[in-house]
Amino acid sequence: MQGFLFDEHEQSLPAGKHSASTSTDLRLLFDTAKVCHKCTLAETRQNFVFGEGNPTASLVVIGEAPGAEEDASGRPFVGRSGQLLDKILLAAGFRREEVYICNILKCRPPGNRNPLDNEIKSCMPWLLGQLEIIQPKVILMMGKVAANTILNNTLSLGSMRGKLIKWKGYDCFITYHPAALLRNPNWKRGCWEDIQVMMRHYATISGRELYTEKRENQ
Ligand code: URA
Repeated sequence: MQGFLFDEHEQSLPAGKHSASTSTDLRLLFDTAKVCHKCTLAETRQNFVFGEGNPTASLVVIGEAPGAEEDASGRPFVGRSGQLLDKILLAAGFRREEVYICNILKCRPPGNRNPLDNEIKSCMPWLLGQLEIIQPKVILMMGKVAANTILNNTLSLGSMRGKLIKWKGYDCFITYHPAALLRNPNWKRGCWEDIQVMMRHYATISGRELYTEKRENQ
């Protein structure tokens, strides 16, 4: 197993097709969204956690909602889950700053409870707006709650992970949430298998050599 313990390495990956104003559009969306009071999470948040990364990213990673550290910093996936996510991305050949990372909910649910229906309904337009601007080649959804929420289903993670799923024209892949991997390290092997399926698809659609093959041939 490759594991998620690689050293820093360089790899540039192609970006999708974007207008020159992608960064500005994302900034404008952020300026509108950051004062959002569409649900009661606005009352308990410390920070609105919009998302961060490359505005022309080929890969968008979507988690569930900010946790305590994300709420405190205003940045997605910066706690222990985020550190593991960074390692997963590196194993797949992506540096964190090359991709775009965000969540379904932009504000922390108290006690990290699951998102409520009205919160999802209020927050989804921000995520859809982000995707419309970024136009990623591939979306990676982290965990069952993120996948069930976005795909509007109640399927098990086992039935969704490790395969291409089309959603609103986007090529999506689903794997374990990093927090679940921290609780159950024996699931990392399955996660790596899911990531490899995504990488093979990414290599096919972008006409690029598969990152692991390139590394193993060096
Ligand atoms: N878990 C998530 O789903 N998102 C974060 O930003 C942090 C932890």
